[in-house]
Amino acid sequence: MTLCGRIVVLALLFSLFSQNVVLASTKILEYYPGERQDLLDLRDKVTSNADLHKNWTGPPCLYNLSRWVGVSCSNGHVVALVLEGVQLTGVLPPAFLQNVTFLNRLSLRNNSVSGLLPNLTNLVSLENVLLSENRFTGEIPFQYIELGRLRELQLQENYLVGQIPAFNQSTLTAFNVSYNHLVGPIPQTGVLQRFPESSYDNNSGLCGIPLRNLCPAPPPTIITPPPAASPPIPARGKKKSLQIWSVVVIAAAAALVPFLVILVFLCYYKRMQGKEKEKAKAEQEVDRSVELSEKKTTTSRSSEDPERTVELEFLDRTIPVFDLDDLLRASAEVLGKGKLGSTYKATLELGSVVAVKRVKNMNGLSKKEFIQQMQLLGKMRHENLVKIISFYYSKEEKLIIYEFVPNGNLFDLLHESRGVGRIPLNWRTRLAIIKDIAKGLAFLHQFLPSHKVPHANLKSSNVLIHRDNQTYHAKLSDFGFLPLLPSRKFLEKLAIGQSPEFSQGKKLTHKADVYCFGIILLEVITGKIPGEIAGGIDETTDDLSDWVRMVVNNDWSTDILDVEILATREGHEEMLKLTQLALECTDLTPEKRPKMSEVLRRIEEIEPKVEEND
Ligand SMILES: *[C@@H]1O[C@H](CO)[C@@H](O)[C@H](O)[C@H]1NC(C)=O
Ligand SMILES: *[C@@H]1O[C@H](CO)[C@@H](O)[C@H](O)[C@H]1NC(C)=O
Ligand SMILES: *[C@@H]1O[C@H](CO)[C@@H](O)[C@H](O)[C@H]1NC(C)=O
Ligand SMILES: *[C@@H]1O[C@H](CO)[C@@H](O)[C@H](O)[C@H]1NC(C)=O
Ligand SMILES: *[C@@H]1O[C@H](CO)[C@@H](O)[C@H](O)[C@H]1NC(C)=O
Ligand SMILES: *[C@@H]1O[C@H](CO)[C@@H](O)[C@H](O)[C@H]1NC(C)=O
Ligand SMILES: *[C@@H]1O[C@H](CO)[C@@H](O)[C@H](O)[C@H]1NC(C)=O
Ligand SMILES: *[C@@H]1O[C@H](CO)[C@@H](O)[C@H](O)[C@H]1NC(C)=O
Repeated sequence: MTLCGRIVVLALLFSLFSQNVVLASTKILEYYPGERQDLLDLRDKVTSNADLHKNWTGPPCLYNLSRWVGVSCSNGHVVALVLEGVQLTGVLPPAFLQNVTFLNRLSLRNNSVSGLLPNLTNLVSLENVLLSENRFTGEIPFQYIELGRLRELQLQENYLVGQIPAFNQSTLTAFNVSYNHLVGPIPQTGVLQRFPESSYDNNSGLCGIPLRNLCPAPPPTIITPPPAASPPIPARGKKKSLQIWSVVVIAAAAALVPFLVILVFLCYYKRMQGKEKEKAKAEQEVDRSVELSEKKTTTSRSSEDPERTVELEFLDRTIPVFDLDDLLRASAEVLGKGKLGSTYKATLELGSVVAVKRVKNMNGLSKKEFIQQMQLLGKMRHENLVKIISFYYSKEEKLIIYEFVPNGNLFDLLHESRGVGRIPLNWRTRLAIIKDIAKGLAFLHQFLPSHKVPHANLKSSNVLIHRDNQTYHAKLSDFGFLPLLPSRKFLEKLAIGQSPEFSQGKKLTHKADVYCFGIILLEVITGKIPGEIAGGIDETTDDLSDWVRMVVNNDWSTDILDVEILATREGHEEMLKLTQLALECTDLTPEKRPKMSEVLRRIEEIEPKVEEND
């Protein structure tokens, strides 16, 4: 790599770090990227019969749950890592779990891990550390005496050398270093004296209480920490020069550590980049089915499990494929928090942007039901419907990945920053948006005739806006969830929960969508927010349609129009025609409301002579 290339990679690296910091505050799933990365570093460094490559994918934590074998979580943080007797082989990564700062329990007992014991300096919450029955070498790091909450330390049956550090944490109630090659006196701290002989047995040269062989020298002092890789201290005479030597070694090591860390990251990042490039190329060139088999051969080189990349179900094969890991690495921004879940804008590392919805309240749903519904919805293609790109199902977590629509939603467009500085939304734009909504909804009604209520959640915040130059287009989102909800109780979370037939406990039909459409019409015409009409004319009416009905019946007609369009002289007459249609759509009796196909026809008639869209 050239020097220039290196600088670019370094810059990328730092942007990656800062991105992760952002991610931690606005996350798609409750997990912390630093923790995940540390676990992935471990996964990629060791082998075991637990098949971690296949299992440790996606988020490590889902609030208090984890789908990663051996991992436990609390409030999105990894709090325990327990991999016992799974033939874990290899050396732990250099910055082992340094960012998993809430780790409480660490157990890798009964495996074949080799190399030095891990540096646990940052892990101040640790209570249980079980690393017994492995192949650890080197000394017990003296920094372990600073783990203030340590209750249990099991290091027996390894190949540890050197002396025992002066553990004196009052919390420590279980301790075992037997069957190692430790030497020297057992430090005479109150805590270490508590443990029985069997905690110290079968070492090369330990002496002192509680062992029977007493130390030859006078009462020992607390041991000074020896350097990490030095052999056990053989004689007193050499001690001084050794200490000087150790200072030099530690200083040199400390100076080298940042370089090593950067080097390791560089290699790792390079590998990831390579993988990404391969993937992108493969995707452009070959059809997905061919590509999958190819991925198996290309990625196995870098010891990546091929199955990692096929976590998301894609509905459209023409778009670039990414996997859940890509999604989790993406920077995320909350777009909205709805009653069915939160939606995020995710910018993938390859540059594409998608919207991700985390769906709530669907835990009773079987995988089959969810997939069938997603496939049905994903098949629909209409310029006024937000496209579903892919989805992810697990028992605890369901994600729907939509195309990202860039210019916000109709609610914000109508109601945001009212007052000084607001650019009025003119009549032509309003009519264009209404027409788009009617087209999208009419299509849904035609495409999903068997659905009780095809959209079921039509409201202005679910009408997304995109704009090119001065032209506004609208796309409907959040449709088709009704069959996924567990019971009628949840329907009140949807827009159709506001319909008269719902509150009267009557049967719901396509006409419930027509009602919701009527409310949006009124919202667009009046510029008022349904359910919170300013200066309510009558305390008892807080419903937008009741209010409009009353105003219109009293022949105040144009008074209902949004002041923004009242100010201009255009379109008043058409607006009143639309008001009439809106009142029909919001009729209390569902049967009296027009069908969506008729609504669309009438809106197209209302349209002014000058076409603004097509
Ligand atoms: C992980 O920890 C290292 C130091 O051990 C730190 O430099 C890095 O920023 C951390 N990463 C994250 C994502 O928190
Ligand atoms: C990992 O394995 C556990 C238990 O074997 C399983 O419950 C979990 O679903 C697996 N996770 C993934 C992501 O496959
Ligand atoms: C997760 O567990 C903690 C206690 O361990 C509890 O305080 C918290 O409410 C739980 N959170 C969820 C979402 O269940
Ligand atoms: C250690 O793990 C092996 C499987 O790898 C298991 O058969 C054995 O019973 C375990 N021993 C102990 C003491 O847990
Ligand atoms: C252990 O990790 C901490 C923090 O990451 C670091 O400051 C310290 O130098 C490390 N100790 C050793 C012996 O590597
Ligand atoms: C160990 O800790 C106890 C109390 O926490 C203290 O009284 C004692 O002096 C300590 N012993 C040594 C050798 O540091
Ligand atoms: C320490 O470990 C050894 C070997 O596994 C075991 O025989 C002994 O009973 C343990 N002692 C304590 C106090 O745990
Ligand atoms: C462990 O030590 C005890 C006494 O200290 C001894 O009797 C026993 O043979 C030793 N066991 C092994 C496996 O070295």
